[in-house]
Amino acid sequence: MAPPDREETPVRVTLVAETRPGERRVALTPEVVAPLVEQGHEVSVESGAGAAALCADEDYRETGAQVLPAGDDALLAGADIVAHVRPLLPDQIARLRRGAVTVGFVTGPGELDGIRALRGCGTTALAMELVPRISRAQSMDALTSQALVAGYRCALEAAMRLPRFFPLFMTAAGTVRPAKVLVLGAGVAGLQAIATAKRLGAVVEAYDVRPSSADEVKSMGATFLDLGLDAIEGTGGYAREQSEDRAARQQEALTPYISKADALITTAAVPGRPAPRLVTRAMLAGMPAGAVVVDLAAESGGNVEGARPGETLDVDGVTLHGMADPASAMPVDASRLYAKNVTNLLALGLSAEGWSLDLADEVLDGVCIVHEGTVRHAPTAALLEEEG
Ligand SMILES: NC(=O)c1ccc[n+]([C@@H]2O[C@H](COP(=O)([O-])OP(=O)(O)OC[C@H]3O[C@@H](n4cnc5c(N)ncnc54)[C@H](O)[C@@H]3O)[C@@H](O)[C@H]2O)c1
Repeated sequence: MAPPDREETPVRVTLVAETRPGERRVALTPEVVAPLVEQGHEVSVESGAGAAALCADEDYRETGAQVLPAGDDALLAGADIVAHVRPLLPDQIARLRRGAVTVGFVTGPGELDGIRALRGCGTTALAMELVPRISRAQSMDALTSQALVAGYRCALEAAMRLPRFFPLFMTAAGTVRPAKVLVLGAGVAGLQAIATAKRLGAVVEAYDVRPSSADEVKSMGATFLDLGLDAIEGTGGYAREQSEDRAARQQEALTPYISKADALITTAAVPGRPAPRLVTRAMLAGMPAGAVVVDLAAESGGNVEGARPGETLDVDGVTLHGMADPASAMPVDASRLYAKNVTNLLALGLSAEGWSLDLADEVLDGVCIVHEGTVRHAPTAALLEEEG
């Protein structure tokens, strides 16, 4: 899109309210809207968009943004750029003008219809989940900021559901031993779960398939479990899927540690694949009475057999909780971080001179999943092809 003339055509940025059930985050907070308005852009906010994240319509008005009634046609039809958190719905996309740019999460199970709509409407979509993991893009990395919130939340869920203390207590009435917490998967969320459980006073052990995670686990004051298995690391610092044989050996090696844990937090993931199954029902049955298991991967198939997102189950006396949309459970700070990620990304193309998308920029090239109706992200294009 050619940069609009600053004097005549300021960039019109729209903040839409989230529509998915239970989603409480907002894509732009007043804190990040203010500099956009100061730069000369016209920001329109759908009334109530920030309410669940404690951002009132009035707070947006004070920045100079205009607040339009919920569902007002001008919100989508008049936008140059639309900011959102969860993927836009096809009927929202259908109301965008050709050449409009959307920024937010785009992909995920069941979201292909939205991508087809983006393609069909000639729009350009920037996918927050595709921000490359390079140091220049760290301030735009929404997967990291939201995983941090999720990991913190997992540790709190475990602490709240465990019928005993996390910390050591030495009192006149006796000594209470600290809880033993085991964290599986020590990426961004796992490390935050470790840090939070440590702050609450638990004794924490952790395991990850990536060898580089050992030092990170130790730097948090936790013990890294050396299971004597081969390490597996894929590209970009991510894990690879393990073979069935290795998965079985990992389960066997983890069993004695799981059987001693009061709380188990699982956060393991492999990009583009269902969550690896780390814990079977038989392993749960061997845990101490009253033990708690929190599975962050419940929405993508579960690290733990039987885990279901948003449900808390009693499995042979063990409490099994499947996390559902954990970042949305802490919408204030999750939104603040996400909004910064979004505006840091937009700043690569948005200035007082207008908007321009330079696809020679490594970050914009990485995030631009659909450009003027063409799907550029090869795995997504292949999925669309497969599904017809
Ligand atoms: N800007 C950056 O450079 C940047 C930003 C964020 C993260 N990172 C790095 O990317 C890596 C992964 O981050 P993430 O948290 O998004 O990963 P993720 O959410 O894809 O996976 C979570 C963790 O699960 C682990 N895992 C996968 N299979 C497992 C199994 N069978 N058993 C145990 N653990 C298993 C992975 O190794 C990973 O640590 C880390 O090295 C992190 O430091 C880099």
